[in-house]
Amino acid sequence: KTLKSLGDLKGKRVLVRADFNVPLDGTTIKDDGRIKAALPTIKELRGQGAKVILMAHLGRPKGKVVPELSLAPVADRLGELLGVSVPLADDTYGPDAEAKVDAMQDGDVVLLQNVRFNPEETSKDEAERDAYAEKIAKLGDAFVSDGFGVVHRAQGSNYSVAKFLPSAAGLLVEKEVKALSKATENPERPFTVVLGGSKVSDKLGVIENLLSKADRLVIGGGMVFTFLKAKGYEVGSSLLEDDQVDTVKGYIQTAQEKGVELVLPTDIVVADEFKADSPHEVVAADAMPAGRMGLDIGPDSQKLFHDKIVDSKTVVWNGPMGVFEFPAFAEGTRAVAQGLVDATKAGAFTIVGGGDSASAVRNLGFPDDGFSHISTGGGASLEFLEGKELPGLKVLE
Ligand code: 3PG
Repeated sequence: KTLKSLGDLKGKRVLVRADFNVPLDGTTIKDDGRIKAALPTIKELRGQGAKVILMAHLGRPKGKVVPELSLAPVADRLGELLGVSVPLADDTYGPDAEAKVDAMQDGDVVLLQNVRFNPEETSKDEAERDAYAEKIAKLGDAFVSDGFGVVHRAQGSNYSVAKFLPSAAGLLVEKEVKALSKATENPERPFTVVLGGSKVSDKLGVIENLLSKADRLVIGGGMVFTFLKAKGYEVGSSLLEDDQVDTVKGYIQTAQEKGVELVLPTDIVVADEFKADSPHEVVAADAMPAGRMGLDIGPDSQKLFHDKIVDSKTVVWNGPMGVFEFPAFAEGTRAVAQGLVDATKAGAFTIVGGGDSASAVRNLGFPDDGFSHISTGGGASLEFLEGKELPGLKVLE
C-alpha cells in the first residue's frame, strides 16, 4: 500500500518509521545519505498539511538509554535540511512525547528518541513488542513505513505499529522496492552482479539466488580469498573462511553448469599487515606469497572488472573490493564505482546496495546521481536480493 491509500492527511498525525541509522563520529554525522533519503516522504506529508512524527533507531543500545546513541544529531541535521526546527522528544511515548505532539501545528515535524532505548522494541516476545507499539500508536492517526533499511526486521516501531493504525509504505520504501525488483525480476541483459566485502558467509543467500538470474558474477573484497583458495591457490594471511571453501567450490561448479561467467581478480595488492601505511606490492592472483595479506584487487583486475561492468545493461553491486578506508587499498573499489558510473552513462540500470558500499562511493567522492539507485539498505537490500520475504513489507500488504 502506498501513501495515496491513506487518503487526505491534512491535520492528521502521521507516525513515520525512518532509517536514520547513520555513521557517527562523536556527534558528527559522517554520511547523511539516509537522512536525505527520507526527505521526499517528509516533504510530501508536510505538503499535505500532516503533522509528521518520526521514529528511528540509532545503533544497537540493547534496550538501554545510551546517551551516545541519542538521535539529537539527527534532529539537528534534519532541521537544517528542512529549514524548520525539529524538536526531539525524550522517549517514544509518555508525557514529553505527548506534549510535543499536542503542540504541533499542521506541517510540523517532531522526532521521537531512539526506539531501541526501550527493550520492548526488539523483544523476542511478540506480545511485548505489540504492547510497546500500541503505546506509540496512540500518538498517531496513521503509520507510514519508510525505513527501508529495517524492513527485514519485525520490530515494534516498524512492524507491530502497523497492526494498530492504517498503514502504508512511504516514498523511499516504494522507490527501493521498485529499483531492486527491476534488477531481480526482469533485468535487461547482460546482468552483472558485483560482490565484495569481508565475508562470503554474509553473501551465501545472494550468490545462491542470483546464480540462476545473473549472466555474470564478479567477485572481489575479502571474500574473494575463499574463492581463490577453492581454486587451489595460496592466499597467504588474507581473510579466509576455511569452512566455506567447499560451498564455494560448489558455486564455481554451478556457475559453469549454468553458463554464468565467474570473474575473479587476476592480480592482488598484498601487504605485510592490516595498516594504512603497510609496504605493499602487486602479485598475480595465483602466486600470492605465504605470510602476506591481500588488501585490494590489483590494476589488471581493476581494468577487467571495470570493463565487465561497462559491458552490462543491469548491474547490482554490494560490498567494497578492498580496504577502501586506507587510500593505498581503495583503487579496486574506485574502479568498480567508476565502472557503474560509466555503465549508467551508457544507459545501463545500476544499483549500489549496502551501507558500506554506499558510504564507500560517497567517501571516494562519487556523486549520488552517477548511479541509477543507491540503496539505503544494508541487510535489507541483501535479503531482498536473496529473494526472502521481508516482514516490514509483508505487514503493509
Ligand atoms: C542498517 O544499518 O542496516 C539498518 O539500520 C538496520 O540496523 P540493524 O542491523 O541494527 O537492525
